[in-house]
Amino acid sequence: MNVLRPLRDSIEEDEEKKIECLTPQKIVQELDRYIIGQKNAKRCVAIALRNRWRRMFVPPEMRDEIMPKNIIMIGPTGVGKTEIARRLAKLVNAPFIKVEASKFTEVGYVGRDVDSIIRDLTEVTVNMVKEEEKKKIEKKAQESALNRLVDILLNNRRRERGEVHEVSSHKIDRERREEIKRDILENKMKDKIIEIDTSVPAFPIGIEVFGIGMEEMERTLKDMFSNIIPRKSKKKLVKVSEAYNIFYEEELNKMIDMEKVTKIAIKRVENTGIVFIDELDKIAGRESGHGPDVSREGVQRDLLPIIEGTTVMTKYGMVRTDHILFISAGAFHVSKPSDLIPELQGRFPIRVELSPLTREDFVRILKEPENALIKQYVELLKTEGVHIKFTDDAIDSIARIAEIVNERTENIGARRLHTILEKVVEEISFYAPDLKDREIIIDAKYVEERLEEVLKTEDLSKYIL
Ligand SMILES: Nc1ncnc2c1ncn2[C@@H]1O[C@H](COP(=O)(O)OP(=O)(O)O)[C@@H](O)[C@H]1O
Ligand SMILES: [Mg+2]
Repeated sequence: MNVLRPLRDSIEEDEEKKIECLTPQKIVQELDRYIIGQKNAKRCVAIALRNRWRRMFVPPEMRDEIMPKNIIMIGPTGVGKTEIARRLAKLVNAPFIKVEASKFTEVGYVGRDVDSIIRDLTEVTVNMVKEEEKKKIEKKAQESALNRLVDILLNNRRRERGEVHEVSSHKIDRERREEIKRDILENKMKDKIIEIDTSVPAFPIGIEVFGIGMEEMERTLKDMFSNIIPRKSKKKLVKVSEAYNIFYEEELNKMIDMEKVTKIAIKRVENTGIVFIDELDKIAGRESGHGPDVSREGVQRDLLPIIEGTTVMTKYGMVRTDHILFISAGAFHVSKPSDLIPELQGRFPIRVELSPLTREDFVRILKEPENALIKQYVELLKTEGVHIKFTDDAIDSIARIAEIVNERTENIGARRLHTILEKVVEEISFYAPDLKDREIIIDAKYVEERLEEVLKTEDLSKYIL
């Protein structure tokens, strides 16, 4: 694979290596740690991701011929569509953004600039890379912040003692610095008040641009101005601990190479970005001459270029969308993928249906994923010294009730487990601070008792569960 690298330079080699190792099988395995069932959907997203990666290494002439292999996930609400996409992105450390297709059909939003999706994605990525870069210079920034603090404290001490600058020798200086440093690090100074210089904008920025779709412009303008407005230094009285934090932030910002950050970020968006378009079914529909279909088709046409591959101008520079992976989702109860305009259908060749969740799935969802709900509650309450334990029949009971409520009211899939579990532990949650060092066993009887009242009346369960 190493022979063909026409698109790349060394910046993100590591990233590539990681993705290279993530074979479709491996991706599915990783997703299994968080998502129960939905085998087909997992396979399909794994394939979509791998295809994008493959396409990047195809000779350029051919590459342009190969359409992006985006994917549509079809399935009822609460069965894991969003979760799969989100986990996939996390797995490969890919920039991720979720948008709702239906947002773009709202009044006043017709013809709304879909480019904003890419601009937002770029923003997310810049912040992501910035955090990573900050991690790398953390140590150095801490050191500088500490030194600035020592300078101030040293000068203060001299002044207190009425010393003139020239008097103290280097050696004494060095010893004093060490001493002060030690005191700071041992937290002996943290509440001492000192005067520091910080830099603030010379005058406040107030820009308001009115009109539909102008928020973006307003944001960009503000951003531009905050860079050119002169900064002035301002004296401030703060605690030593606070001063350290201020200096640390200032040093970090001074040291960080924003040009490099931007460069890496744009590369990453272009090559590994994932856009999740939810509720695609809400914009399915073709021009019927009037009504909502006109705007629906309009939105599809607006989306087309960024999915086909175009260049979007962001405040960080041009971003090409050719290799961005688009994963869309929808229930498609009323409309069908075939109601999408043909061009768009062509860009989403991978289709997969997610199955409704069964009671057995609920049981597994409660127990098995690494972030399983039961595990979350156990940990939450552990912080109060309360140890709860769910018996297997308690979990069966929760799953059964979730199924019943889904049937009776509205089927919201695994989301139902959240509300039910919250209700089950409500009492314990409330009294937890007084229950220190207690072990509480939650069994089926306990669950049923807690939910009995609510279940009795249909109306109540509508509001509470
Ligand atoms: N198959 C599943 N395995 C584990 N958790 C799931 C599954 N399906 C849904 N969930 C949980 O239910 C909630 C809603 O899932 P989500 O993926 O947002 O649903 P949707 O299909 O509507 O996008 C999330 O908290 C998610 O963790
Ligand atoms: Mg969703």
